[in-house]
Amino acid sequence: MARFHPLQVAAVDRITDDSVALTFTVPAELREEYRHAPGQHLALRRRVDGTEIRRTYSICSAAPDPAGDGPATLRVGVRLVEGGAFSAYALKEINAGDELEVMTPAGRFTLQPTPGLYAAVVGGSGITPVLSIVSTLLAREPSARFCLIRSDRTAASTMFLEEVADLKDRYPERLQLVTVLSREEQQAGLPSGRLDRERLAGLLPALLPVEQVAGWYLCGPYGLVEDTEKALRGLGVDRARIHQEIFHVDAGPAPAAATAAPEHSTVTALLDGRGGTWPVREGESLLETVLRNRPDAPYACKGGVCGTCRAFLISGEVRMDRNFALETEETEAGYVLACQSHPLTETVELDFDR
Ligand code: FES
Repeated sequence: MARFHPLQVAAVDRITDDSVALTFTVPAELREEYRHAPGQHLALRRRVDGTEIRRTYSICSAAPDPAGDGPATLRVGVRLVEGGAFSAYALKEINAGDELEVMTPAGRFTLQPTPGLYAAVVGGSGITPVLSIVSTLLAREPSARFCLIRSDRTAASTMFLEEVADLKDRYPERLQLVTVLSREEQQAGLPSGRLDRERLAGLLPALLPVEQVAGWYLCGPYGLVEDTEKALRGLGVDRARIHQEIFHVDAGPAPAAATAAPEHSTVTALLDGRGGTWPVREGESLLETVLRNRPDAPYACKGGVCGTCRAFLISGEVRMDRNFALETEETEAGYVLACQSHPLTETVELDFDR
């Protein structure tokens, strides 16, 4: 069960004009709770005028060795989002020594290091979880290789430029790095311009043996992730090998149209071993119903992106507005995103503990 703890900010490093990396110190007694897999994220929360704001940020630091202690520090990347209540605060107001409320790690955009060839296509701040994935994999699996294709507007706006260059220096044979800048010509490397489906379909087989890639990690804005997935599917890559995490959902498709819902319905939820049954108010999501009664219900983005509100649907039927977090196997197994779910039956039972 995800929990918040206050953690001290050890460092705030400016990495581009509009982004910072925040490093937190994890006290010894909490290190097990903050043990994370490469690719996971953390939710941060703060209160503004009585309203709680939560945002999730991917961890960029390498994951701790399973045989050793949990992490002594955690580092996340934060890029300024226009009008973003949390990111503006992170960039302008947070200083080393401050304390922030940090949720324990969550997310299924992860890689368990095993030998083989892996690849990622990332855009903008999508590099953040992939930096953790690449550094963990290459450090732990001496025979693993990684092809990292990153797309950014300009070199100056590229997050973690130095960290990625350091990885390339450390593993010159095992890390293939390809950079595409959409708004700037490079002296070496690929021509500038957007990476769209057509370009990717030609580029990927020219860069690496597509059919030998054990896992594809796509992370960034909706358009890039969608285009890459389509290009890969067109190249015959199995869906099970493609992992994706989307940022900036606003550019995505509109939520599904409302379908007939019962006039009155109730949700029964099991959460941290305790259950309860409550009426669902018109228009609200099941997460909102549960939160009104159990403020400890897990969530972060409320936008169908982070997967923190995942619950198992024990009985009843729901309609999900949007889902950018659950894999097909998870929805087929019966998992739903509570923040996107609305009842289609008079009773719905959810289990947040499963
Ligand atoms: S809270 Fe993020 S997907 Fe539901």
